[in-house]
Amino acid sequence: MDIGYTTDQLRAAAADAVRAPSLHNTQPWRLRLRDGGIEVLADPTRRLPATDPSGWGVRIACGAALFNLRVALAAAGAPARVRLRPDPAEPDLLARLVPDVPRRPTPAEQSLHAAIPRRFSNRLPFWPDPVPADARWRLAEAARAEQCWLELLIGVSAVTAFGEIARSAHRVLERDPAYRAERQRWLRQEPAPDGVPASAGGPQHEPQDVLPTRGFGGRDRAPGRDFEPEPLVGVLGSVGNTAVDQVVAGQALQRVLLTATDAGLSVSLLSQPIEVPTAREQLRLSLGRFGAPQMALRIGYGQPGRPTPRRAVDEVLTAPTAGAIAG
Ligand SMILES: Cc1cc2nc3c(=O)[nH]c(=O)nc-3n(C[C@H](O)[C@H](O)[C@H](O)COP(=O)(O)O)c2cc1C
Repeated sequence: MDIGYTTDQLRAAAADAVRAPSLHNTQPWRLRLRDGGIEVLADPTRRLPATDPSGWGVRIACGAALFNLRVALAAAGAPARVRLRPDPAEPDLLARLVPDVPRRPTPAEQSLHAAIPRRFSNRLPFWPDPVPADARWRLAEAARAEQCWLELLIGVSAVTAFGEIARSAHRVLERDPAYRAERQRWLRQEPAPDGVPASAGGPQHEPQDVLPTRGFGGRDRAPGRDFEPEPLVGVLGSVGNTAVDQVVAGQALQRVLLTATDAGLSVSLLSQPIEVPTAREQLRLSLGRFGAPQMALRIGYGQPGRPTPRRAVDEVLTAPTAGAIAG
């Protein structure tokens, strides 16, 4: 059987990879063609030193981009074998994908692939309709399929306790001028290929809100358009918290997000309680879970919205000798 990728397949998969979410839409990844495969590298020049001093957010975003690559190649009938952190001499090299035996895509792979261009962070209030049990089960299963866990908080007291941890982490972060400056630097009032468009920023935080919002631009909200009083909150976690665990968690995050999109659900991400170490530990203890919380998600039925811009694939995808590859 013929095993090998065409350049067109790799380019198409790269275009899907860059649709992944990232902190402040920094898109902190590079993709490299090598030996007939494709590699995902962290781009340290796009790390946020104040918001993400350890590089956790870079590795989550790169893991999400890696998941998109896997799904795109599988949906094209050309699945990949993946090695994480394949070369200790090159720590920014997070994953190498090489061709596996071609096979027909599964319906699940096709659905996840179709969800890639439709997924976006929805920071607006959701409708109060509850998320049904079968959709919750699918989301938890998506995390499990990627060796992670997704704890969906049940009951007002669990959500209130989470909200307290998240709001106190938010206050800690807001006290840091460098953190605030970074958020401001990545907020976009004019069209741009990266950063968070003000139009996607969601409403301004108000005292009655259970969960903190990141405060990108922050439009005033119409009277009565409050956030849902009992949001469905999920916490995604991994078994450990090494660099590889964080790349694994990024893949699980993207699988959960695409599964949610496929189920007609909207999601916004909240990482303040992950970014503040004491809050993260409080969160872990409150969940009674082993391992490490890696992301919190607000999940529900949202109003339609628009995916945010990305840099062109040619800016991200390189071949080691020939520079940016031609079409
Ligand atoms: C590691 C990580 C942390 C994030 N934290 C937040 C957050 O705290 N608040 C928020 O509104 N969005 C958060 N996001 C979402 C990004 O802002 C969003 O993915 C990015 O702006 C691109 O937009 P999109 O998701 O609509 O494609 C986070 C994303 C990642 C990958």
